[in-house]
Amino acid sequence: MRLGLNVDHIATLRQARKGSEPDPVFAALLGELGGADAITVHLRADRRHIQERDVTLLKDAIQTKLNIEMAATNQMVEIAASVQPYQVTLVPEKPNEVTTEGGLDVLLNEAGLRQVIARLSSHNIKVSIFVDPHLDQIRACHKIGAHAVEINTNAYAMAGTKKAVEETLKAVDETAKMASKLGLAVLAGHALNYRNVDRIVKIADIEELNIGHAIIARAVFVGLREAVSEMKALIRR
Ligand code: PXP
Repeated sequence: MRLGLNVDHIATLRQARKGSEPDPVFAALLGELGGADAITVHLRADRRHIQERDVTLLKDAIQTKLNIEMAATNQMVEIAASVQPYQVTLVPEKPNEVTTEGGLDVLLNEAGLRQVIARLSSHNIKVSIFVDPHLDQIRACHKIGAHAVEINTNAYAMAGTKKAVEETLKAVDETAKMASKLGLAVLAGHALNYRNVDRIVKIADIEELNIGHAIIARAVFVGLREAVSEMKALIRR
């Protein structure tokens, strides 16, 4: 299974002093040495962590694929068109949220999202959509021309009882199957860590995971290259 390393929180630490260290570009290169198959960053409207400078440099510096998470706005589409990442992941964005709170409701804005996907596709950028594990959202992603879906694993990760774990896993499994059947690339992510990733790895239709916070938190103690390679070992199959 492939690992997309999210380096946003390296930039969070840098922005705490508004200086130049630690550099998410350096982090991405170390992550690649540890085995990351893709580098993910979320360029937020408020620029709280990742800056435009980061995405431009990452595009040139990394050997793997750059995936930019972003809101489906005109301004962001223009930035993506000029940076030319391998993939864009469309996410909902609320100004005061601590992290992305849920998947994009594709059914709410099919026409607008279809246009955004067409514009990004015309620049040869693949488009993934971050969605909650609901079958109707997967069908809508397919209908509007998305190339991939990233299934939100937050409900699974936060499940407090065995029953909730099984129910939320079933939803991820069923939506992954449906997405794969429709020909979409299937990714998953959000709140995955070294303890909960094992059950997600068993879902055969999921090709790639996007993981950030848990790996960066572990890197503080063991180093980033080691933290990434430990996660890679857990998701190998
Ligand atoms: N996928 C998406 C769409 C996200 O917004 C995030 C958080 O930036 C992640 C994955 C990674 O989540 P975490 O940091 O909890 O691993």
